[in-house]
Amino acid sequence: MADRTIYIMGNWKMNLHVGDSSLFVHKLASSVKSHRAIEVVLFPTMLALQSLSLQVNHRQFKLGAQNFYWRDHGAFTGEVSASQLRGLAKYALVGHSERRHVFHEHGREIGRKVQAAVRNGIRPVLCVGETASERAYGETADILHDQLVAGLANVTSEDMAEIIIAYEPVWAIGTGDNATPKDTRSAVQAIRMQLRHLFGTTVANATPVLYGGSVSIDNAASYLAVDGIDGLLIGGASLDSRQFGAIVEAAYKQGRTTKK
Ligand code: PGA
Repeated sequence: MADRTIYIMGNWKMNLHVGDSSLFVHKLASSVKSHRAIEVVLFPTMLALQSLSLQVNHRQFKLGAQNFYWRDHGAFTGEVSASQLRGLAKYALVGHSERRHVFHEHGREIGRKVQAAVRNGIRPVLCVGETASERAYGETADILHDQLVAGLANVTSEDMAEIIIAYEPVWAIGTGDNATPKDTRSAVQAIRMQLRHLFGTTVANATPVLYGGSVSIDNAASYLAVDGIDGLLIGGASLDSRQFGAIVEAAYKQGRTTKK
């Protein structure tokens, strides 16, 4: 049982202009304390990555990209590659439900993005989760299986050292209708079981698994207390500096070693 890093990630989505992002980081810097065991990662608009990478104290905040294209370069008008993000983003979201459901990204493309991130030294945060109707039909474990198999296709056990999984039930994102810690626990168990099948027990236990979906200061501690959860991916509440800072503190106070 070793100490594990806790990841607190803020996905700003398509919010804040470049100047506002800078002001917001300035505010966050005073409300978010640095703790060695906690990795705080911000996912701003792509436009602000460069300026923020010069602004932030990298011991306090790491930066991530919300999206990128899986090819490294070429005639792909309007796209940004993981190769172009090198040095600016340490993490990247892949397979977020808004990418899957609004932009119709599918398994194969998501798998290619995971590989592109790893190939370029960026840690992918692979988001998986079922919709409300899949949940109602009892299909959660099957959906997680399919999304993990597709998202982690052609990934090696060594690559897995760089990969983070985020369980984000689609029905809980931005709705205030968050999953119960019990739901979360069984989904996380299903995720680790699938990782065990794909990569073996050591990798399954070592892979960080986060929860995301309507996380707030009121419920953050209850998720962090779930056995097998290594952190949180936060949307709405990450745009409130006081709340985000309080969630980081809650994670620190939890100060726990996770049993797997
Ligand atoms: P939410 O978003 O916290 O606003 O539900 C989570 C996410 O989309 O990652």
